[in-house]
Amino acid sequence: MPGTPLSANLRCGRRRMGDRCCDDDIPETDVSNATPPDRLPEKLPDDPMQLASDWLDEATAREVQRNPNAMALVTLGADHRPSARVVLCKSFVADPGYIVFYTNYQSRKGRDISANADVALVFHWDALGRQVRIEGKAVFSPPAESDAYFHSRDWGSRLGAWGSDQSRPIASRDALVAQIKARAAELGLPLEPDAANPAAGSPPEIPRPPHWGGFRVWASSVELWVEGRDRIHDRAVWTRELAPADENEFAPTAWVGTRLQP
Ligand SMILES: Cc1cc2nc3c(=O)[nH]c(=O)nc-3n(C[C@H](O)[C@H](O)[C@H](O)COP(=O)(O)O)c2cc1C
Repeated sequence: MPGTPLSANLRCGRRRMGDRCCDDDIPETDVSNATPPDRLPEKLPDDPMQLASDWLDEATAREVQRNPNAMALVTLGADHRPSARVVLCKSFVADPGYIVFYTNYQSRKGRDISANADVALVFHWDALGRQVRIEGKAVFSPPAESDAYFHSRDWGSRLGAWGSDQSRPIASRDALVAQIKARAAELGLPLEPDAANPAAGSPPEIPRPPHWGGFRVWASSVELWVEGRDRIHDRAVWTRELAPADENEFAPTAWVGTRLQP
């Protein structure tokens, strides 16, 4: 009823266990960096990606958690089985609206995307009480962009991209280390950059493996979620069409936003 406070029972939206609320089981976390619950703007913004990007910037600037750019990525295999894992968002391009992550193209996620470009992403910043859900299409990043990012990585990470056949079985950790060393030797590369070319003072270049690079996830749906008291959260979803344009590019329509019940 309007004006009636929500009952204490409503404070926990989850099942009660005996006399104890199930929330009692949640360990206390350090929320010194937390923000009090806020709201989505009453008039929804035209572009949800800009607001989502601002939230990522805020989570990063305030160091609310390790890897504030971590996001769950869901893919579908050729057999239609979903699988989820965490990857790091390395670029959030609000306009025209895509997100970039890097991986091994022959990994399970890489093979899934080759079979089905439809993916979903989720960011969650617990201390800010915010979640961003994105659905869209994944396409290969332009090779020059993957090259630039690869060359910005540290030596060990670049060697690791050559040394690990991500998602494939291997007999032991020792076998993995031996494989990485063998691949480095095949490339004529030392395991440490300092040993590479001490006379010249600069290490040799490590080329980007052809099976490693970026994916751009073009957003066709974005949901922004803000934690509210009494589980009365604030939610809105925006959708748009992704008309294919040039290779690996889309010509998106304008976003259309709708507020959702929590
Ligand atoms: C915090 C965190 C960040 C990660 N970032 C990446 C990443 O950016 N790219 C990547 O390929 N794997 C990343 N991983 C590893 C993936 O979660 C996953 O184990 C790996 O990519 C293999 O997944 P797949 O077999 O489903 O392809 C990350 C894991 C964690 C926990």
